[in-house]
Amino acid sequence: MSKTTVIAFANNKGGSGKTTTCSNVGCALALQGKKVLLIDGDMQLNLTLSFFDEEKALGFATSGKNIYTAIKEEKDLSDFIVETEYEGLDIVPSTSLMSSIEFDLFSKWQREIILKKSLEPVRARGYYDYILIDAPPTLGGWVMNIMCAADFVIIPVEASPWGLFGLANIFEFVGQVKNIAPKLEILGIAITKADERKNYLKQTIETLSETEGANLFETYIHVDSAIEWSQDNSKPVVVYKKNSRSANEYTKLAKEIISYAHR
Ligand SMILES: Nc1ncnc2c1ncn2[C@@H]1O[C@H](COP(=O)(O)OP(=O)(O)O)[C@@H](O)[C@H]1O
Ligand SMILES: [Mg+2]
Repeated sequence: MSKTTVIAFANNKGGSGKTTTCSNVGCALALQGKKVLLIDGDMQLNLTLSFFDEEKALGFATSGKNIYTAIKEEKDLSDFIVETEYEGLDIVPSTSLMSSIEFDLFSKWQREIILKKSLEPVRARGYYDYILIDAPPTLGGWVMNIMCAADFVIIPVEASPWGLFGLANIFEFVGQVKNIAPKLEILGIAITKADERKNYLKQTIETLSETEGANLFETYIHVDSAIEWSQDNSKPVVVYKKNSRSANEYTKLAKEIISYAHR
């Protein structure tokens, strides 16, 4: 078995905390001594912008070091990896060209597993402990690729009145992906932007605790303005303000992820 665990962060609802969770869990894992590769799968570049300023992030479009070029040309992903400023934490950046990825995938043979094939040499080398993939807020051929390349899916869910709306769609989608990738599992649901003062937090927790196969994580990520400040400074909150509430919570969530992924 490969030493590398691949986890997709997905939810078709935008603003549910996918990117924030992917960047902070990734950085927390690296701070705990793991080797981590992040893959930015979204044309909005938010994961890339979590580590680089706008000028550098946009530069990956011209340098060709981005996920779009790797997938379009069906290349070994190893050649598209860029180091971040943090020890043990690397990234494959995104570009706005990802807006046409569905079109580019359409004409390819075995189009559901282009990313999986591109990742195979990286997995085979066994250097990374974790590969975390940030998905866009859609459920189409590209997210199918992301899930087919993964061992596990983590679904970040915003504790808001509409947070749970549409969750059935992603469960159904994962079910469909399992026809192609039978070993894929939902590792868990992570509640984000929790606010104890709001009634719907309790409701969200109750509903998710009762949902079969949801595997709600014990650690919730609370609303914390430190997150927005950290993103404004192109840094994950676990390094930008390491004693903040959300930084501690993401560190705990990373530990939960390690224990569940290796059960
Ligand atoms: N715990 C939190 N507290 C405060 N703001 C948050 C928190 N988590 C995420 N956000 C903010 O919510 C927005 C959406 O988060 P993001 O991670 O980009 O979601 P997604 O990737 O699912 O679209 C961002 O502006 C982010 O700064
Ligand atoms: Mg995002």
